[in-house]
Amino acid sequence: MEKFYITTPIYYVNDVPHIGHAYTTIAADIMARYKRMMGFDVLFATGTDEHGQKVEKTALANRETPIELANRVVVRFKDLWKKLDISNDDFIRTTEERHKKAVEAIFTRVKENGDIYLGEYEDWYCTPCETFITESQLVDGRCPDCGREVERLKEESYFFRMSRYQERLLEHIERHPDFIEPESKRNEIVSFVKGGLRDLSISRTTFTWGIPVPGDERHVIYVWFDALTNYLTVCGFPDDMERFEHYWPADVHLIGKDILRFHAVYWPTFLMSAGLPLPRKIFAHGWWTVEGKKMSKSLGNVVDPNKVVDEYGVDAFRYFLFREVPFGLDGDFSIASLRHRINGELANDLGNLVSRSITMVERYLGGSVSRPEGHHPEGPLKGVDNLLEGYRKAMDSLDFHRALNHVWSFISEVNRFIDRSTPWVLAKDPERKGELTSILYTLMEALRIIGCLIYPFMPGTGEEMRRRLGLGSTPSSRDFRADLEETYRVEKGAPLFKRIEE
Ligand code: MSP
Repeated sequence: MEKFYITTPIYYVNDVPHIGHAYTTIAADIMARYKRMMGFDVLFATGTDEHGQKVEKTALANRETPIELANRVVVRFKDLWKKLDISNDDFIRTTEERHKKAVEAIFTRVKENGDIYLGEYEDWYCTPCETFITESQLVDGRCPDCGREVERLKEESYFFRMSRYQERLLEHIERHPDFIEPESKRNEIVSFVKGGLRDLSISRTTFTWGIPVPGDERHVIYVWFDALTNYLTVCGFPDDMERFEHYWPADVHLIGKDILRFHAVYWPTFLMSAGLPLPRKIFAHGWWTVEGKKMSKSLGNVVDPNKVVDEYGVDAFRYFLFREVPFGLDGDFSIASLRHRINGELANDLGNLVSRSITMVERYLGGSVSRPEGHHPEGPLKGVDNLLEGYRKAMDSLDFHRALNHVWSFISEVNRFIDRSTPWVLAKDPERKGELTSILYTLMEALRIIGCLIYPFMPGTGEEMRRRLGLGSTPSSRDFRADLEETYRVEKGAPLFKRIEE
């Protein structure tokens, strides 16, 4: 079985989860479910980034220890992932023993390769971004990325010879056009690297919340060196090399655009130095604003996914995030738009289609329909191969928006097919029973296919549709064709989506 290893960033525990965290994690879940459905051996990992100065500072301000803070906040993440139907296979916390071992092991490899030396770091640091910043990078004396205040550091530090890898990294990016996506982001990284890579400070001495440098306990390892290594820990490095070699390299690291440089510059050069293969793809998605404004605690407009889900349901939320904005671009979250899509696309287009089709099978055929003798795909099912191929291509390139567009044009087509073929007229004429059966069978096939295509996005709805069609709960690659010889024993249920007063 072919493997597929996908990761999310591991989230800082200084903050509780919001829509930004949910977005990356749901995206990874969609991909993981899709690949499992297609028969892949999937490893899908997420987790929490618990070390570093930022977490230590927050804990101090809350008068708790960093591990108390982490233990408290990690529950918030785990609970949210349950609520959002996230199907991760592992959840890594950087304070776990297995992770400490992995970080020590990769640090040692890099050191043995002659890429770590002791020096002194004298420059700026942005704690919210956990980034070292040079004088010339400052913008009005502030962090060029987040615009917040920076602090002056002057301390002994271990350095990683990143400068050594500039050419190799550029070559790798050029030879592997899909290593960094989307393309605009790749171009940003290429010009950053061409601008020159400096050696990177990878240890700190002025606080203690981290993994000690092997052989020099006065230092803790830089939190990004620590955090990025989680991707190795999860697949068994260094103790279970058989498992590691099976899953590594990762097929996709999904991240937000703000942390691209760490993933597309630092991470590959660490791996090159450690003599390990590079991930196949790093995909950076865009950022959400909220009702047109940047999301921030001070504005008080941070979207809590728990609340949205309680009010509108998990599948509507998952669907909305990926229908509203092409993956890779920035987008704006608004409740008006969410409601509009629930009413139009979910309750109306999809919900009504399911309910009227199943009602007709109940009413006209006593609740079950089998493939009629000599049946051929008709109506919307004639184009189903194109649909499936378009969907697969879109999904394989993380183009969720296009995949959903394919599905919703199919849904409209099926709705038009019903209007055109007027089963309610045929039902009045016993002589036309054969025609009627054929049309309703076609509808059931269409519903089966729709249920399977929406399943990665809306797992609950996909499964419920299958239940109502009398099928087993999870779709598989077998469902990726029309004209299966199924017998559908249907069951009508409550509306899949409730309309909302606008
Ligand atoms: N701990 C690091 C990642 C280490 S990975 C080895 C980190 N954590 S984080 O908690 O700050 O969250 C990061 C993720 O949330 C990023 O992918 C980031 O892009 C995403 N988002 C945070 N706010 C966001 C929006 N407003 N919109 C979309 N995603 C956003 O960085």
